[in-house]
Amino acid sequence: MDKKITIAIDGFSSTGKSTLAKQLAKDLGYVYVDTGAMYRAIAFFSMQNGFIKTDYLDKESLIKSLPNIQLQFQFNPDLGFAEMYLNGENVEKQIRTIAVSSFVSKVAEIPEVRSKLVEQQQQMSKDKGVVMDGRDIGTVVFPDAELKIYMTASAQTRAQRRYDELIQKGDSVTFEEVLHNVEERDYIDTHRSNSPLVKAEDAIEIDNSHLTREEQFKLVLDLVQQKLV
Ligand code: DC
Repeated sequence: MDKKITIAIDGFSSTGKSTLAKQLAKDLGYVYVDTGAMYRAIAFFSMQNGFIKTDYLDKESLIKSLPNIQLQFQFNPDLGFAEMYLNGENVEKQIRTIAVSSFVSKVAEIPEVRSKLVEQQQQMSKDKGVVMDGRDIGTVVFPDAELKIYMTASAQTRAQRRYDELIQKGDSVTFEEVLHNVEERDYIDTHRSNSPLVKAEDAIEIDNSHLTREEQFKLVLDLVQQKLV
């Protein structure tokens, strides 16, 4: 049987992790898991249930509700990747709004949320052949992953990418709002006490500020091939 590995991709928001992960999964015939979508779905659930008020998150109510939250990925052959379902409902669009982006880091700080999601993520790579992206994949979820990538790019570059995406989707946001959101999330993601974003010792760092998608893909595919021999 062909050798299969686990590929862990970590890094700041909007570094193009999901683009790279989707390209790799498609080329290798692997399963792609977007762990950010899981944290986003929980943030969206908190909004739907009134746990988020202006600038405050009712953590206690969210923790009590965790057993009622069912998350599932369902592959969409038209899109070529799996979409996020929250309690049976496709929430792929709802979890990508700036409102969810603004709150998701607060939700991702909660230890009970993290342990629920990490357990589910670990189950997904039982048979290998998985590309997973997030913040703690190479450090906490799969410390033994055969290939770990740590992606970086300047905050300006990343904000511009996210801004272009949102505008294309018809959201009315300003560049400054998006940049502020990116910087705020960077701060929270790297400073939280539980599983902060850090580069795993054995991860390979790629700064893609000046790389095209194709160049980056070829570079990483090469690293994958080295692990497969
Ligand atoms: O990758 P993303 O921007 O969709 O992630 C959304 C948020 O979820 C981000 O602010 C950090 C958090 N996250 C996390 O803490 N751990 C992960 N494995 C994935 C995402």
